[in-house]
Amino acid sequence: MKKIATAILLLAFFFAFSQQKTIDQKVDALLKQMTLEEKIGQLNQYNDDWKATGPVTVDNNKSDQIRNGQVGSLLNCLGTERTRSWQKIAMESRLKIPLLFGQDVIHGYKTTFPIPLAEAASWDLEAIKKGARIAATEASASGIHWTFAPMVDIGRDPRWGRVMEGAGEDPYLGSKIAYARVKGFQGEKLGGIDAVMACAKHFAAYGAAVGGRDYNSVDMSERMLWEVYLPPFKAALDAGAATFMNAFNDLNGIPATGNKYLQRDILKEKWGFEGFVVSDWNSIGEMQVHGYAKDRKEAAFLAITAGSDMDMESRCYKNNLEELLKEKKIDIQLVDDAVKRILHKKFELGLFEDPYRFCNAERETAALNNPEHVKAAREIGSKSIVLLKNNNHLLPLSKDLKTIAFIGPLVKEHKQNKGFWSIDVPGVDDDQLVVSQWEGLQNKVGKNTKLLYAKGCEIEGENRDGFAEAIEAAKQADVVIMSIGERADMSGEAKSRSDIHIPGVQEELVKAIQATGKPVVVLINAGRPLVFNYTADNVQAILYTWWLGTEAGNSIGDVLFGDVNPSAKTPMTFPREIGQIPIYYSYFNTGRPANKGTNLNYASSYIDLSGSPKFPFGYGLSYTTFEYSDLKLSKNKMNNTGKIEVTVNITNTGKYAGEEIVQMYLRDKVGSVVRPVKELKGFEKIKLNVGETKTVTFIIDNQLISFYNSKLEFGSEPGDFDLMIGSSSADIRLKDGFELVK
Ligand code: NOJ
Repeated sequence: MKKIATAILLLAFFFAFSQQKTIDQKVDALLKQMTLEEKIGQLNQYNDDWKATGPVTVDNNKSDQIRNGQVGSLLNCLGTERTRSWQKIAMESRLKIPLLFGQDVIHGYKTTFPIPLAEAASWDLEAIKKGARIAATEASASGIHWTFAPMVDIGRDPRWGRVMEGAGEDPYLGSKIAYARVKGFQGEKLGGIDAVMACAKHFAAYGAAVGGRDYNSVDMSERMLWEVYLPPFKAALDAGAATFMNAFNDLNGIPATGNKYLQRDILKEKWGFEGFVVSDWNSIGEMQVHGYAKDRKEAAFLAITAGSDMDMESRCYKNNLEELLKEKKIDIQLVDDAVKRILHKKFELGLFEDPYRFCNAERETAALNNPEHVKAAREIGSKSIVLLKNNNHLLPLSKDLKTIAFIGPLVKEHKQNKGFWSIDVPGVDDDQLVVSQWEGLQNKVGKNTKLLYAKGCEIEGENRDGFAEAIEAAKQADVVIMSIGERADMSGEAKSRSDIHIPGVQEELVKAIQATGKPVVVLINAGRPLVFNYTADNVQAILYTWWLGTEAGNSIGDVLFGDVNPSAKTPMTFPREIGQIPIYYSYFNTGRPANKGTNLNYASSYIDLSGSPKFPFGYGLSYTTFEYSDLKLSKNKMNNTGKIEVTVNITNTGKYAGEEIVQMYLRDKVGSVVRPVKELKGFEKIKLNVGETKTVTFIIDNQLISFYNSKLEFGSEPGDFDLMIGSSSADIRLKDGFELVK
């Protein structure tokens, strides 16, 4: 039996190897036939005319350029009809090299899923993977080969609008989610009819833009880069990400797009990445604006040398590579390597066998109208909602309440729920497709419940004219639900905000409604952690709903009325005030920590504000309660080839079945470089019925406790470690410790 299994395995290896070889051979053969212009064409990516996310160059002869083999890829081109029409033109080119169609499929295609930060709050890797899987199924049925996702940038500054696209502040959680998303997008294998290429972006450190201002510079230590910002990229690579995108920012003075250290030395050499790197939109040309290249020709030189393979929209490669070659400033090997990487992916996708394989209108209709996708969006939506507060068990609400007032500027919105980076599929009406929060509530309550509505105010502005009507509605109700927050386009690319309080007079409206004495539940819609101290300190219940997508109203309804018990936990720290930013849980202790109960004079704190967050990382309530007990370590000493098994029992001690995210944090107490006070090193999401107990197991090994020492060598150091098991980074329920011995 064993022998047969080995033989099968060997055969599979041989088969995989010969397949691989075949593609390599095909690529080489094709390359030999290509003119220089055709090679450079493969490196050239243009925007179609659908929707631009950067400055557009008007090009009236795109068709001719495609026909001449001068374009390798298009972005922002949707639907089987449109992609087929462009592909047909590519098939008129001399070598008939198919075009690649790329698209920002960030959180769903036609079925919009929660924004990535919201999904990250679920800590549910299977659900996250499923969201990406469905997005890929729909996008690939609609002509798309390649998504510019996942965005795996660590986000520790909620002023930065793009935190909504990522998985939050933590490298461990971020890496797990990056891995899950790549697997989801790429499915079983690239080449599958429902798989799209993933693109880990933005390489690298874009999330650390100074002041949270988009596109801004990044100044970062090597250790921070390796320990915090690179791990999710490595995880994406380990999951098989076919492509990477570089970034707009400079890193320590060198624009990421022209950064050889990042793209060649780390990504392609050290990590052995075999896919290709696409630039960000015009980021090659922008190196001139940075003051790093004297002109666009030098920008092309710097980018190709650094390992940036495909040029998104800047035309720097198209206009300059030939000259750079003639002048012997670059070697043809550089161009060939980039072309080969791109062609390889086109072969892997099966496009040479059938360039229209993703352009089947019937499949498109079926995939875009699959009710299972909508069901999944609803489920992931409710898993993403964080219960921040629930005094006196106001939630879940009874479906038999006589009167509910639903108040706020977001109650009846449809499109807003989709959040930034959602896709407007041609011919699809969002008012029909998206379940508003009002509709979600209507779907939930029985006939005997009266729903009252008042808008109260706008999202922005000073107008309080609607307050009186809202107060009147509240007075008639048994319970008031309010839906407030940002507009969807207040977070996302180029949507940094210096003030992240809830905008306009919305919190004033909350205050006015609170003054009626009615029980108030507030839903907060946002693409980032916001600051909302009045609401947090005064109302009875708060659900952080982010942007939940197509099924937002139903997902919210499910949680409000207890059909789903909330289980999400914050993937980013919520500050008390903007002045605390950047704020994250895995800080260094300093020589003067501001610990509770100690003299705060001359401590690392603020004289006008506590240093602690409003809501810590990993925090979120449930309708039930969980007790942690019986923390056991298989041993308290290990060497660097050993392992410690950690077990802990979790019991549902409340009245509802529910899910808990059990978190393991470690602290390396003394190091040759200072280690954080806590680092997430394991988590598990478990489901427990009332009264049920489950044992959660974590394994600690050398890899898990290794870090970059003062010489930037990755490894562990002997000494003592604290082990903390908690329900959030600030709610540690059980503690123990262990020693790493030589
Ligand atoms: C710019 C964004 O930074 C990037 O994330 C996106 O994929 C491209 N534009 C294409 O839309």
